Amino acid sequence: MLQKNQFPLRLVEKHFVSSTSMELCFERPDGSPVTYVPGQFFSFHLPESSGGKTRSYSVANRCDNIRENRELRITATLIPDGSASEFFRTAEPGAEVEASGPFGNLILPAADPHRYILVATGAGVAPYRAMLSQLAERLRSNSDLTVELILGVQTPAELLYEDEFRAMAAEHPGFVFRACYSRAEPQQADEYAGYVQTQLQALSPDPEQDRIYLCGNPAMVDDTVKLLTPSGFTPANLKREKYLFSRL
Ligand SMILES: Cc1cc2nc3c(=O)[nH]c(=O)nc-3n(C[C@H](O)[C@H](O)[C@H](O)COP(=O)(O)OP(=O)(O)OC[C@H]3O[C@@H](n4cnc5c(N)ncnc54)[C@H](O)[C@@H]3O)c2cc1C
Ligand SMILES: NC(=O)c1ccc[n+]([C@@H]2O[C@H](COP(=O)([O-])OP(=O)(O)OC[C@H]3O[C@@H](n4cnc5c(N)ncnc54)[C@H](OP(=O)(O)O)[C@@H]3O)[C@@H](O)[C@H]2O)c1
Repeated sequence: MLQKNQFPLRLVEKHFVSSTSMELCFERPDGSPVTYVPGQFFSFHLPESSGGKTRSYSVANRCDNIRENRELRITATLIPDGSASEFFRTAEPGAEVEASGPFGNLILPAADPHRYILVATGAGVAPYRAMLSQLAERLRSNSDLTVELILGVQTPAELLYEDEFRAMAAEHPGFVFRACYSRAEPQQADEYAGYVQTQLQALSPDPEQDRIYLCGNPAMVDDTVKLLTPSGFTPANLKREKYLFSRL
């Protein structure tokens, strides 16, 4: 059945951004813009030849002018034998797929808090990459603002976009990047051992000052919500997006 806002996309290029994740760039064949708010996602309706299933992916674009934007970039962790994963792994430039969206509410508010804490595991960092231009603008215009980005992966081989996050930290003193390894030892000053929750707790989250975002592994999201709720975080200052996988 045709979804509201459904349109075709054509694959332009793809490349690995970590040992397990691939960035894919799509455009609309009719050249129409692709509009979204950074942090949102699109649903992909796979061709019948790939099982006809629907899977969702966050926008990973780095884009300064969204009104003029004509690309949809996504970052997909390739699951062995996964339906969408196999489609993305084997699709060649020119391949077409139907999509719908944008959807989702993991977006920055109009008014900034004192501090954003952006927490991700794996490809869950894609929506924060899409927010980088917006965050840079806000950090430039508000010297009291701090942005903490915490990314959890198993080992350094699965880190994504770390060069971009480190460049952002070098350019903006208010931006801090932390990589957390669940199965490797840290090698540099911005790397830590353990789950993302350890670094989050080290920041002493404060519901009066902070707005926290969680994205990625559903167990990480659930465990972190349980951790933060007793200290007064509510959906007003704790936003989340679970990368739930579907069996349909
Ligand atoms: C709102 C939303 C946004 C999302 N954004 C992204 C994104 O930006 N990037 C991204 O990579 N994914 C994202 N996901 C997850 C994505 O939609 C797919 O579920 C995922 O890519 C697996 O799809 P598949 O068809 O390849 O695997 P499937 O065919 O669905 O799964 C194959 C097998 O792998 C298992 N499996 C599936 N996913 C996982 C997993 N993560 N860990 C362990 N086992 C798993 C399944 O149980 C099944 O046995 C998002 C999900 C949601 C709901
Ligand atoms: N073949 C590989 O080398 C490889 C590498 C990575 C991922 N994968 C597979 O790819 C798929 C998706 O991987 P992904 O990297 O996107 O995400 P993922 O499997 O969700 O893992 C991302 C990170 O989140 C950690 N994590 C798991 N549960 C958590 C919790 N409750 N709280 C906090 N952190 C938690 C993981 O640690 P732990 O996993 O150490 O618990 C890992 O460091 C999975 O099927 C995964 O098994 C394969």
